[in-house]
Amino acid sequence: MKINSVKLFKTIYTPKDIFPEPRAGEFVFVGRSNVGKSTLLNIITNQNIARVSKKPGKTRSINFYLINNKFYFVDLPGYGYAKASAIEKERWRRIIENYFEVRSWNIKLVFVLIDGRHELQKNDQLILDWLKELELPFSVILTKIDKLKMSEKVRMTRYYKKLLGDKYILIPYSAITKEGVPNILRLIEQLGGE
Ligand code: GTP
Ligand code: MG
Repeated sequence: MKINSVKLFKTIYTPKDIFPEPRAGEFVFVGRSNVGKSTLLNIITNQNIARVSKKPGKTRSINFYLINNKFYFVDLPGYGYAKASAIEKERWRRIIENYFEVRSWNIKLVFVLIDGRHELQKNDQLILDWLKELELPFSVILTKIDKLKMSEKVRMTRYYKKLLGDKYILIPYSAITKEGVPNILRLIEQLGGE
């Protein structure tokens, strides 16, 4: 897949904002705050388009990036940011829930990003259960794998493989070494993101 153009096409702040026209489907990036969603988007588009921060809670809106004038990458705000106010958490829940309910029909694949250093957290479990309930196709990307020793990497990969079963693809990934990036691009291509 060659990405020729990337445009921030639409930003959604509240459930009242109107989603962009569907085009040829969308690929979604979801995960805990600070897990690396915006970083991954920048890597696969080869552009510095999504804002990245050392501090959690950077992306606060749903950002639709139009790729090759054809399909979207959707960057969601991160969940599970402990210091967020109750109001902010509720706002997050509402816009994300609304997004999946309104748009699931146009979603080609959801990438669930999980920090590869930790075992599954409650919030991640909720998202996985919810995606299964909505019968949405998803793959799990284990991020920040560069921070693990080889033995830990093997252990965490096994742990997540067992947890997910055969039905869902698991991709260990690092923004530093770029491990896993070709697999992610291939998946997008296979599902029609050209
Ligand atoms: P929110 O927008 O707050 O939900 O966060 P996000 O999931 O978009 O995370 P973001 O891409 O902003 O990255 C958070 C921090 O993690 C930044 O400091 C990144 O440089 C760092 N980071 C992202 N991916 C990796 C990775 O694979 N390895 C390492 N070592 N650091 C990473
Ligand atoms: Mg972000």
